[in-house]
Amino acid sequence: MAPSPHIQSRPARSRKSRTGRRSPVASAMLLLVGLLATGGSYALFTASASAETTTQVTQLVDEGQRLFQANCASCHGLSAEGTVAGPNLHGVGAAAVDFQVGTGRMPMAASGPQAEQKPVQFTDEQIAALASYVASLAPGPGIPDENLLGGDGDVSNGAELFRVNCAMCHNVAGAGGALTEGKYAPSLKDVSAAHIYEAMVTGPQNMPVFNDLNITPQDKADIISYLKFINESNNAVSVIDLGSLGPVSEGLFVWIFALGSIVAITVWLTAKSN
Ligand code: HEC
Ligand code: HEC
Repeated sequence: MAPSPHIQSRPARSRKSRTGRRSPVASAMLLLVGLLATGGSYALFTASASAETTTQVTQLVDEGQRLFQANCASCHGLSAEGTVAGPNLHGVGAAAVDFQVGTGRMPMAASGPQAEQKPVQFTDEQIAALASYVASLAPGPGIPDENLLGGDGDVSNGAELFRVNCAMCHNVAGAGGALTEGKYAPSLKDVSAAHIYEAMVTGPQNMPVFNDLNITPQDKADIISYLKFINESNNAVSVIDLGSLGPVSEGLFVWIFALGSIVAITVWLTAKSN
């Protein structure tokens, strides 16, 4: 009986292992074990990493809920559902909380026509916690991306958009102005880029909401660049102030200038006729 190839190969294999070389089967097994080990530990690692970020987010939301119940629930309700003293916050988004608390408007101190800006009462971390808590209740506009806030957008496009959409309340130079019933559109001088963006997407009080269909994120970045530009040039050149003084002073300027010219021409004509 002829020996089967299986039996024949045995001595060959053991000779190989004696010389320190692995058989192809052993290498394949080793590779498999290696792959499984790497894959398994990678899966374990990523699972624990994502579990870690999930716990961090949960911790932030929990912290926010605690702060909310202590500082905001009296007006907005225990789960932000709203009361007679303050609106429902489901769906206002992290952007609204970051704006309202970050500019010191909330927690509101006294009821009046408009939430006053006060010194900010919470740390950045606490504001982030409050924002995550409110955002966890219902989807809403988020805190804007850093790259939209650099202020290196198209200033002239921003100026045009500002003139059309914002100037009727905030004045062409962003100096602010009175509205009806004791309300006012504040000056936009020195407002942070993030807060300008958040005001546009959340529309505080009488201000309309400018969503991304109305004014695209890039257009918003251009408006921010324009406001940054006039802020800086207002500080540097006072000539620009003429533009921000309004129609009355501009009219006065023209009037004095024109009247002066007429007087000068009259004097010259009289002198000539003599
Ligand atoms: C004394 C009552 C009061 C307290 C306390 C208070 N709020 Fe308000 N909040 C209001 C009122 C009234 C408004 C609506 C009027 C306004 O925006 O000026 C408002 C508006 C808001 C808005 C804007 C909602 C929107 O539609 O954009 C947010 C966000 C908000 N509050 C968050 C908070 C947070 C967070 C706290 C706690 C840190 C807080 N508020 C504490 C009364 C209060
Ligand atoms: C109908 C009038 C109106 C228009 C139009 C309007 N705003 Fe406002 N804006 C307001 C009012 C009123 C407030 C104050 C809200 C408050 O105090 O809760 C405000 C607040 C703001 C703030 C917050 C300022 C601060 O001191 O924290 C910014 C920034 C802002 N507006 C930017 C804009 C921009 C940019 C546009 C145009 C895209 C615009 N607004 C259009 C009325 C308006």
